[in-house]
Amino acid sequence: MTEIQPPPSLPQPFTYCDPAKTPVLLAQGAEARLYKTHFIDSSIPAALKVRPLKPYRHPILDRRLTRQRILQEARCMAKLVREGVPVPGILAADWGQNSDSTTEGKDGSNANNGGWLLMEWIEGEVVRRVVNDWERWVKTQEKLDERETADTDKSASVESVKESEKKICALLKKIGGAVGLLHKTGIIHGDLTTSNLMLRPENSVVAEPAPLEADTNRGQPGTEPPCLSGEIILIDFGLAGQTVQDEDRAVDLYVLERAFASSHPRTEGLFKEVLDGYAESFKGAKQVLKKLEEVRMRGRKRSMIG
Ligand SMILES: Nc1ncnc2c1ncn2[C@@H]1O[C@H](COP(=O)(O)OP(=O)(O)OP(=O)(O)O)[C@@H](O)[C@H]1O
Ligand SMILES: [Mg+2]
Repeated sequence: MTEIQPPPSLPQPFTYCDPAKTPVLLAQGAEARLYKTHFIDSSIPAALKVRPLKPYRHPILDRRLTRQRILQEARCMAKLVREGVPVPGILAADWGQNSDSTTEGKDGSNANNGGWLLMEWIEGEVVRRVVNDWERWVKTQEKLDERETADTDKSASVESVKESEKKICALLKKIGGAVGLLHKTGIIHGDLTTSNLMLRPENSVVAEPAPLEADTNRGQPGTEPPCLSGEIILIDFGLAGQTVQDEDRAVDLYVLERAFASSHPRTEGLFKEVLDGYAESFKGAKQVLKKLEEVRMRGRKRSMIG
């Protein structure tokens, strides 16, 4: 029989007595847990990112690394907000000063929490989900096409796929533009995947959070394509760094390109749209794209050697 694990404990001051105010766990990765909570007033949603301590690491080293990562993330994001790059605003942070195991509450509330970041809540979806939904929708349309015999119906679904392709290209171009804006400030992301990009729809309203769920559980795509318009917001700066080197910027783009190749096979062919958006975003971008060619060559050589 499998043992049911107790829910992970929250750091103070998020150990509210009122269950209605308890933060909702949305994502649990190896490095961090993401909750939806609120800031000052229950009408202001906020995202809480908690970094648990790692029991397998030496405690002093672990605290130091966790602290470094939280501070780095908060500092980068604060700078990016000032420079007008689309990232969530930072509302509060604790890089470990209140989460010492010796100050653990009676309820064990601070146990295993290395520190946390509270940030602006971004309404919308991660790009990985948006692109996956779009790819699934295209597949459904293609199947419909095969089944339909009447030529008129056939051209209707072909047309709607073509229309939505234009929209996904525009979305990819926006992604390139957002990455370019980031690089222009002298910061690289360090972990550019489609899970670390969010699409905030225009006129977004605050919705109830979806609980932890797998992509496979999402509803079957209907006849309508998923919404592809909105603003791209960059998230997850735990591995970000300061650099203006073309090489570092090109590696950031290469990581994103590989992420598209492995997670979104149908969209991989459209990746040049990301690079077009990037090329237009700042003065030094074309140099970075040249460097990207070299980085790709090295990547190919490495995968050939194994
Ligand atoms: N500000 C935010 N608003 C809404 N949702 C968010 C926000 N930040 C993160 N999320 C959601 O939480 C998920 C996990 O967040 P994030 O990518 O920062 O953590 P992580 O990948 O576990 O962290 P790390 O790689 O730094 O260890 C995201 O994919 C996104 O769905
Ligand atoms: Mg992430």
